[in-house]
Amino acid sequence: MCVNCDLQALEQDGLKSIDDAKTLDELSLVEKKFFGRKSGLLSSAMQSLRDLSPDEKKEQGAKLNSVKKKLEDALLNKREAFEHEKMSALSKEDVLDVTMDLPERDRGHLHLIPEFIRKVEEVFGRMGFDTAYGPEIETEEYNFDLLNFLPGHPARDMQDTFVMRGKGKEKRVLRTHTSPVQIRYAKEHKPPFRMICPGVVYRKDADATHSPMFHQFEGMMIGKDISLGHLKGVMIEAVKELIAPDLEYRFRTGFFPFTEPSMELDIRWRGDKETKEGQWLEVAGCGMTHPNVLRNCGIDPDKWQGFAFGFGVERLLMIKHQIPNIRLFYQGDMRFLRQF
Ligand code: PHE
Repeated sequence: MCVNCDLQALEQDGLKSIDDAKTLDELSLVEKKFFGRKSGLLSSAMQSLRDLSPDEKKEQGAKLNSVKKKLEDALLNKREAFEHEKMSALSKEDVLDVTMDLPERDRGHLHLIPEFIRKVEEVFGRMGFDTAYGPEIETEEYNFDLLNFLPGHPARDMQDTFVMRGKGKEKRVLRTHTSPVQIRYAKEHKPPFRMICPGVVYRKDADATHSPMFHQFEGMMIGKDISLGHLKGVMIEAVKELIAPDLEYRFRTGFFPFTEPSMELDIRWRGDKETKEGQWLEVAGCGMTHPNVLRNCGIDPDKWQGFAFGFGVERLLMIKHQIPNIRLFYQGDMRFLRQF
């Protein structure tokens, strides 16, 4: 047989088929026809070399290899041409250009109070504190009585209360602090537990550091041997993380009917000294939970003890960002809000 002629014809046939292929699929068929492992024309030609003498084998082998190389190159070129065509078609049809620079978007963000409260939940969450919420319209019972405010005790007037219509048990108040949530939580949960409860509170009060509506977050931890040391540790750890690691603080003795002993926490004002009432700003009340409060929640004070604290959110933020007046939080002035 004229292996030479065959090879020439094979080459021409191959190059023509490759040239004629109009799609990638057609090209794959051509590739299979020539290079297919079992019945491909080139593969069989390779196999037929076996019957030749060593000299002929060498000669024919070289020729066959050169045909093979030419067809391979032609296939590769054709494939690249197809790919290129596909890409340029895509760039014409596809409207999404991921490399295009878009105009910068104005993004909104949370007001700094809810943003701070989220941070509070996160910081205490890491210390194992559960988060709870309670109603802003409270009964006198939860806002005062169960917190060990005795009837007619002057401590009731300590917190200038917005009282709503109604008599006796029906009488409602706008909660003056988040402490009633302690009671609600402690009644529903068995100790040991630790929880915080952030929220809005109301008092008839207004000046640079007081607003009739403001935010607090309360904390309570009840266990077998929870001490004043734990109270201070938890509060300071949290405040340092929330405000600044290097802040100066002091605990003073204080009075709250629901804690005994009671303390107040001051943080040194870090802003303009001129604008502030003194050097220190009171940011929290705290103490060891009064046995009467535990009893009111059905917890045996001979078995359990713990602490509670209540922070003013705005005041912490005033210290953190050196904000001179509490009203700035609520006026919605974009020049103020954009700074945070
Ligand atoms: N409820 C108190 C207040 O609003 C703060 C406080 C909470 C004090 C918990 C002691 C324990 O002033």
